[in-house]
Amino acid sequence: MNSSPPFDLGAAQAPPFRVLGIETSCDETAAAVVSADGHVLSDVIESQVASHAPYGGIVPELASRDHLRNVRPVIEAALEGAGVTFAELDGIAVTARPGLAGALHVGVQVALGLAFARELPVVGVDHLVGHISAAYLQYPDCPFAPPRLPFVALLVSGGHTALYRVDELSAAGIRELGATRDDAAGEAFDKVGKLLGLGYPGGPVIDRLASQGDAACFELPRPMSRRDSLEFSFSGLKTTLARFVEQHGAPREQQALCDLCAAFQTRVVDTLVRKSLVALEQERLSSWVICGGVAANQGLRAAAEAAASTRGLSLTVPLPRACTDNAAMIAYAGACRLLRGENHGLSLEVSPHTELPRTTRKGRGARP
Ligand code: KG4
Ligand code: ZN
Repeated sequence: MNSSPPFDLGAAQAPPFRVLGIETSCDETAAAVVSADGHVLSDVIESQVASHAPYGGIVPELASRDHLRNVRPVIEAALEGAGVTFAELDGIAVTARPGLAGALHVGVQVALGLAFARELPVVGVDHLVGHISAAYLQYPDCPFAPPRLPFVALLVSGGHTALYRVDELSAAGIRELGATRDDAAGEAFDKVGKLLGLGYPGGPVIDRLASQGDAACFELPRPMSRRDSLEFSFSGLKTTLARFVEQHGAPREQQALCDLCAAFQTRVVDTLVRKSLVALEQERLSSWVICGGVAANQGLRAAAEAAASTRGLSLTVPLPRACTDNAAMIAYAGACRLLRGENHGLSLEVSPHTELPRTTRKGRGARP
């Protein structure tokens, strides 16, 4: 069993191997400088939430334009924050998939231009591998033990929800155990937030309101409750809430709103924790990672910690800022590729799809 990060260069002897990470796959323009042992030297994120909020979701064309405007100052701020120049970098990592094609192109073209001009190696990173890599990030003044390989990763974001067995931080070393058949968990939070008039993104607001609510006040269905299945489905839960709002309207009284948020969040969290435990049991593993934007949820973090401590599991949940989209996770995943000798050079292309093989088919269930 490997208990150290994939690349522990030993701070005292080895020269630092520093990678600039660039992330523009969705609605955050981000850049970071991370060393190959996971230390985050800088981490800059320019959120576009305000641009998209009036539309209740992400507008791809707006996202690309905002990335174009923000990418240069964000990269400059990341280099300045880390106190390094281009000459002191060992490589560049950029999110190349999955994501909005136009948004991905902005980051990839900038990364290619910089790599060409500065004669640096450049690698494309899968955003999902990036989220899993966040478990290895070390922020100043906030040290924590990296996870032991192999582990089960629960990845819960706005676009993806899946359980993986992770033997190595590379696409070949990550196997999907089950995923959502319809909405991702974050998507469900955002849709319910919209239904309840809470604005976009719904996740953080529901999280805050749920902490003051009583989940027992509303009876909601359990999503995909079949005990052994590692697939998820959140659309039924969302539809039940939509019907409730259609019949009664969104709760006007603050306490009732908090109670409804608590009931919804508890159902989602119970499902995520229960299925993770089934996956850990099935794979006979005791190392558990939770990552992606929804891993910032306080209810999920608390429920997972309680489940892990009762069962003696070792749980790693990155800091909330490392759970939501950022470039530090991309830089670290890229460092792993660069240290394996990879350099995608000018052949780097974008794709809207993940490179991780899928077992669950959206809307249909497991592949035969
Ligand atoms: O990983 P991420 O930043 O972007 C994607 O790759 O999708 O995840 C964004 C998602 C959004 O759906 C957002 O509502 C959700 O993560 N989210 C949360 C919380 N913070 C962000 N959901 C529940 N509770 C939170 N505290
Ligand atoms: Zn993400």
